[in-house]
Amino acid sequence: MCGIFGCICEAAVPVLVDGLRRLEYRGYDSVGFAFISEGRIIVMKDKGSIDDFVRRVDLDSLDSRIEVGIGHTRWATHGAPCKENAHPHLDCTGSIAIVHNGVLENFLELRAGLQARGHAFSSNTDSEVIAHLVEEGVRSGIGLKGALASASSQTRGSMAVAALSSAEPDRIVCFRRESPLILGIGPKGVYCASDIPALVKYATRFFLMPEGSLATLTRGGFTLESASGEQIDPCAVGVDWDLAAVDRGGYAHFMLKEIHEQPLAVSNTLRISAEYVARAASLLLGKRILLTGSGTSYHACLCASYLLNSLGFDARAIISSEFEEHLKGQPLGEAVVVGVSQSGETADTLGAIRHAKRLGARVLGITNTLSSSITSLSDAYLCTQGGPEIGVAATKSFLTQLVALEMLSFRAALASGSLSRADYEGVVSEMASLPAKISSILGRLDRLREIALKYADRRDAYFLGRGMNVATAMEGALKLKEISYIHAEGYPAGESKHGPISLVEPGFLCVFVAPKDSSRQRIIGNVMEMKARGAEIFSVLTEGDGELVEVSDEHFEVPESPEYLYPVLCTVPLQALAYYVATYRGLDPDRPRNLAKSVTVL
Ligand code: G6P
Repeated sequence: MCGIFGCICEAAVPVLVDGLRRLEYRGYDSVGFAFISEGRIIVMKDKGSIDDFVRRVDLDSLDSRIEVGIGHTRWATHGAPCKENAHPHLDCTGSIAIVHNGVLENFLELRAGLQARGHAFSSNTDSEVIAHLVEEGVRSGIGLKGALASASSQTRGSMAVAALSSAEPDRIVCFRRESPLILGIGPKGVYCASDIPALVKYATRFFLMPEGSLATLTRGGFTLESASGEQIDPCAVGVDWDLAAVDRGGYAHFMLKEIHEQPLAVSNTLRISAEYVARAASLLLGKRILLTGSGTSYHACLCASYLLNSLGFDARAIISSEFEEHLKGQPLGEAVVVGVSQSGETADTLGAIRHAKRLGARVLGITNTLSSSITSLSDAYLCTQGGPEIGVAATKSFLTQLVALEMLSFRAALASGSLSRADYEGVVSEMASLPAKISSILGRLDRLREIALKYADRRDAYFLGRGMNVATAMEGALKLKEISYIHAEGYPAGESKHGPISLVEPGFLCVFVAPKDSSRQRIIGNVMEMKARGAEIFSVLTEGDGELVEVSDEHFEVPESPEYLYPVLCTVPLQALAYYVATYRGLDPDRPRNLAKSVTVL
């Protein structure tokens, strides 16, 4: 939630704009910059996206000699998305500017204290207290770094901050607790950002800021120290993402690009070293397995729980934000928690993992970001090989999570003896066919474009599936609702007669995920129930399934496969359906309203 970018380099203004644009997936309610120009701080900020801002504000009028700047793109938590609440925030004197990603738990109390000491506030945000706390530190003579360290010790909650002071115009000082912050060094400058995609164009070396550390960036590089002032050796991380991977590469939207990248993302994930998978799988043996994630990642958990149970394990999927409540009073010493998250930073998932760890559970992290908080909390982890995912709606990350979880489940079944070596080899070779099968679906997306045009004006839709494909249906509904704002519900098809069916009247859209698996016969019964009430049926089905084609108004075929591959295959047309519906409705699928890609608040 919220993106921070800072740089010290020649002609800093366009670099700052570009860096921040690459973080917009983290929020885009409002945007702002602070620069040091001729020893003074200039702040420019407003409501809306960076593109709107750049159109309205004449950034070219800024001094091209500006070398030091910080910027912020916001997803509102405290205070409405408006100009006043946009970052950067200034202190009372206008000589200190800060940008913040995170949530401060004790800001009301801090704010009251600061107001009592004469500070005037100009926003409703929690973040502004940081600027005033830093002001007090600077006034007491401890300099910007000392003042930020002091401010961080007074606050509770998550906090990645970059700060400028006109009294120290050659530097940016950063602090990081819970929220991520990465430092980068390149041939032309020194940078800090909330995420790696913003740095790829400029930096050649990347460093994670350790939890609770302070960094001072100057033209020559950076120094890193703990809050108590001890020097820390920076830990470099390898990043092999090239710029093409974080640009749109000719596609109209990141979402469409990322849908098309799925064959590659899946084949890269299938290449995760067998040794890593075996090590991760060994954690599951003899344990009660609790899978947890949020949004799309929860759907991957749900799907995997069916597979693990069918392979003889005791597995349950729990939405991260409900994890603690759901398991209240239960000892977790015998459990392993599988935390699934694209970003590895989702606060709800981190909260679930921390709770489980406190109660003695072991943790297996599955993330798309090796350098994330979840991986650092895990006893073992698998890194899905999706590459950077920028579109707010998760696409390739879901497919790669499903694939990683399946690799893990089958490997654990081999180790536990519930799957023979020969059957395991069979699974591995079936999974190797996935990239080609996904490509064959992508080759037929024009058909979905036609179907989407037909459904683009709907108000409601049900997505129904059985077994593992309950998760597929839920994911299809989530995709449609989050980017097209059509009310869509994903439901177990068998449960639809216990309530949802009462809404169905002629023309009501029902999307069935109904490949030829063990529940296919029963789902036909559910199709007929909906059809009898006049519903319009769109089925995602196995090629050649004439019986289901017959009772469907529209259909899309996926290649014949073993049951466990259908969630991967059937998801692809549902992603594309949502994408085309959103674009027909004139919406930007990369920037759905009120959402952010990485939600780092509880
Ligand atoms: C946000 C995004 C969703 C995503 C969820 C979990 O809500 O909008 O698309 O599925 O976070 O994110 P994670 O990074 O933990 O997978």
